[in-house]
Amino acid sequence: MTKEQLIEGINRLRKQKNAVIMAHYYQTGDIQDIADVIGDSLALAQKAAKTDADIIVLCGVHFMGETAKILCPDKKVLVPDMNAGCSLADSCPADDFAKFIAEHPGHTVISYVNTTAAVKALTDVVVTSTNARKIVEMFPKDEKIIFGPDYNLGNYINSITGRNMVLWNGACHVHEKFSVEKLVALKHQYPGAKVLAHPECRGALVKLADVVGSTQALLNYATDSAETQFLVATESGILHEMQKRNPQKQFIPVPPEDSTCACNECNFMRLNTLEKLYKCLDEECNEIIVDPELSQKAVRPIKRMLEMSK
Ligand code: 13P
Ligand code: SF4
Repeated sequence: MTKEQLIEGINRLRKQKNAVIMAHYYQTGDIQDIADVIGDSLALAQKAAKTDADIIVLCGVHFMGETAKILCPDKKVLVPDMNAGCSLADSCPADDFAKFIAEHPGHTVISYVNTTAAVKALTDVVVTSTNARKIVEMFPKDEKIIFGPDYNLGNYINSITGRNMVLWNGACHVHEKFSVEKLVALKHQYPGAKVLAHPECRGALVKLADVVGSTQALLNYATDSAETQFLVATESGILHEMQKRNPQKQFIPVPPEDSTCACNECNFMRLNTLEKLYKCLDEECNEIIVDPELSQKAVRPIKRMLEMSK
């Protein structure tokens, strides 16, 4: 099928089946362009919780589809590629996390949304990079907190809030790879550019940033600011929407270490294609199933997050 035929087919099927297509900003441009909703992890969870569609096609990674299914157990949630996992979620196996929690009695457990349902079931409140600071600061200053699984995000939140949360040592293999040396070289090449970095990046890189924030926060800053040149240290899919909203501005991706590529792409996010999106909508395959008992435990900290981020 040609790209035009795929787009026509997807448009026909979503109408026929009352399906909503949701895409994360790290998807390829053609998937972002065809989606009904594009957003960061928080926006996708918020929109999934409110949709009246019968089918949700979540173009992102597995934990995003799982979060949507947990929030909407009666809906059919499909993902274009079941192999679209997440190294950060994988860095926190539920059994090991349960032992870590047992080693720190009396701690409130805050988990990043990039986790499996089993980890969410062990969690008191879920956060995303958009609301992590706000939610942590809603707890008393002396609250004992475990934060997992992203060490860099937890460390960053500790540094800006003066907290001393106990951190799980997990990381995203994409954000962890941004090269400090290459960023320094780009700063020399573009002395007027503002550096935008996601808090999943390592501390040494975050220290060089003018703005540290979630995917949505970086996009908002780039759009609202009077600045015209930006060095962007997050998955390069976000450049599509940044450029679309700001055609007159220049966005330069920060490259990863050990690579000749200029961009840093998440190989899991990029498994999704228009062909796979069409196929899963047509055949209603790749359905996310969550054990109902587990789902009941995992939904509480997600709903608490949605409540606390209002
Ligand atoms: P946000 O969508 O919260 O910015 O998180 C980035 C990410 O790595 C998603 O997998
Ligand atoms: Fe996971 Fe990192 Fe890919 Fe996001 S960018 S899905 S955190 S591996």
